[in-house]
Amino acid sequence: MGLRLLYLIFCRLLDCALLLGRSSAASNAETLALRHEILALRRQVEWPRISWADRAALSALAEHLPPALRGVEVDCEGFAALMRSCHGAVRTTLRILPAMAAVAMAGKCWCKPRDHGVEWFHDSFPDRALASTVPRVCRATGRKFCVTETAVDAEAPEVLRKRMVEDLREQGALVSPGVEAAFGKVPRHLFVPEVSATEVYGAPEAVFIKRNSQGKPVSSVSAPWLHARMLEAAQVAPGMRVLEIGSGGCNAALLAELVGDQGSVTTVDIDPDITTRASRLLAEAGYGQVRVREADGIQPLQDAPAQGFDRIVVTVGAADLSPAWLDQLAPTGRLVVPLRFRGLSRTIAFARKQDHLRSDTLIVSGFVAIQGDGAHAPRVVRLAGQEVRLVVDENQPADADALAAAFTSPRYEHWARVELGSSEGLLPRLDVWLAGAIAPYGRLRATQAAAERGLVGWVLGRGAPAVWHRDSLAYVTLRPAPQATEGRYELGVIAHGPDRERLAAHLADAVGRFDREARSAGEPVVRAYRRDVREHSLGEVTVDKPNVRLVIT
Ligand SMILES: C[S@@+](CC[C@H](N)C(=O)[O-])C[C@H]1O[C@@H](n2cnc3c(N)ncnc32)[C@H](O)[C@@H]1O
Repeated sequence: MGLRLLYLIFCRLLDCALLLGRSSAASNAETLALRHEILALRRQVEWPRISWADRAALSALAEHLPPALRGVEVDCEGFAALMRSCHGAVRTTLRILPAMAAVAMAGKCWCKPRDHGVEWFHDSFPDRALASTVPRVCRATGRKFCVTETAVDAEAPEVLRKRMVEDLREQGALVSPGVEAAFGKVPRHLFVPEVSATEVYGAPEAVFIKRNSQGKPVSSVSAPWLHARMLEAAQVAPGMRVLEIGSGGCNAALLAELVGDQGSVTTVDIDPDITTRASRLLAEAGYGQVRVREADGIQPLQDAPAQGFDRIVVTVGAADLSPAWLDQLAPTGRLVVPLRFRGLSRTIAFARKQDHLRSDTLIVSGFVAIQGDGAHAPRVVRLAGQEVRLVVDENQPADADALAAAFTSPRYEHWARVELGSSEGLLPRLDVWLAGAIAPYGRLRATQAAAERGLVGWVLGRGAPAVWHRDSLAYVTLRPAPQATEGRYELGVIAHGPDRERLAAHLADAVGRFDREARSAGEPVVRAYRRDVREHSLGEVTVDKPNVRLVIT
């Protein structure tokens, strides 16, 4: 045991010696990358087990960082924001270099287009990152590479807030003067005292504030861009009565700014720790007028206004629409809700129409899962251990053994002759549109390692649309377009199992229909009909939930 420890220390110190031989910028980036791996691990397991040998090596390396960087915890911060916000040269602090290095190592799967830029993939995070890959990612993206070693926590919250507002406006997340004014006013850092103000104002992802006993996040404060987009989609006006489900405090404060003195905000959370925290932080930040309630948010709120709520903003991942939300929404109300269906997760802004809700905004987003009576876990069919999985809705039968066996059989490729550009933002729309066009439908998810070993084709981090039938399955994939112009890709299908050719043609045909009929029509529209009022059977493919039937066109 002692001998092994010495051996491990020796190996790590050898790594250090090699690292210290590099340029100082490269060494710093490498050291930070090592720390970053620990942070990435922390997101996946409750706490990383760091061996004593690793600790010794890390402390030795930390000594060699410039003083301004020694206290910096390295995280994924900045890459998505960087890619969204920088035009031309990359202006960066050393803080985000490891994230960039890691992204570069993730190879071809490192980013995908989204409505406002590119999306960061936690899933495709590699095991190791090398500093030498940092300049490579810049070269690959045609940007200049320059590093400034600024101390990251030196700026006042007001300065950070102003910059956040400018960035959000530039990204297109802030659009209306009202929401922008609210963002300029709410002291976001007071609602997440657990982390530094820099992290709070610059966060590209949610900041987790509570985990369960298995280390799984159960509560968070959403990222600024997501708060902004949800509030823009909610269209909140002064004087309105608003209900928020899930209470981080920060979003409720923004809502309070939007409704003003004449309106009201009620925020409900199932977790007493979170309601206590939210009440305290709201009072401290000067938003004591927000009503905080501890309850299961899918149940009717006892003291709801008789006329209903003008806006209901759900900030937790739901698998269905609660009848209480539909009952307590005013006739001209809007419901904004992160909804999971067919392995997808979209925050949907619905407006009330006569007998149904109609979407006008879909936001690609992830949320912690709802607890209580509405708790729901999607079914996961393991096709190759943990590495390749099919995520399906519970009401879609899938023979796990037959599909896993199919996956070991030879693959069949069918290219759809549908091209897309890397910044077109087409895939999120295709994902949703297909859910309303084919059944059964789910998502094939694969790790980076599986892609590198050739187990799957090019599957993006959030998964690929997939269909199956008995002992065969097919999924959408990508390759560089045949007449390879930079940044253009062709969509295709990979299929396995005895029925692979038919299934591949079926899925490719649906992709072709999307290209012809829906590609230029903007975002798909999701309509939600209550199932307890009337069963809609219009002959189309529907996504059936216990309380609502979704029709997607
Ligand atoms: C993403 S956090 C809320 C974020 C927050 N609104 C903000 O300001 O960013 C989701 C919250 O939903 C809560 N939650 C989960 N299930 C719930 C339920 N059935 N009813 C009410 N709250 C629930 C969790 O306790 C968690 O605090």
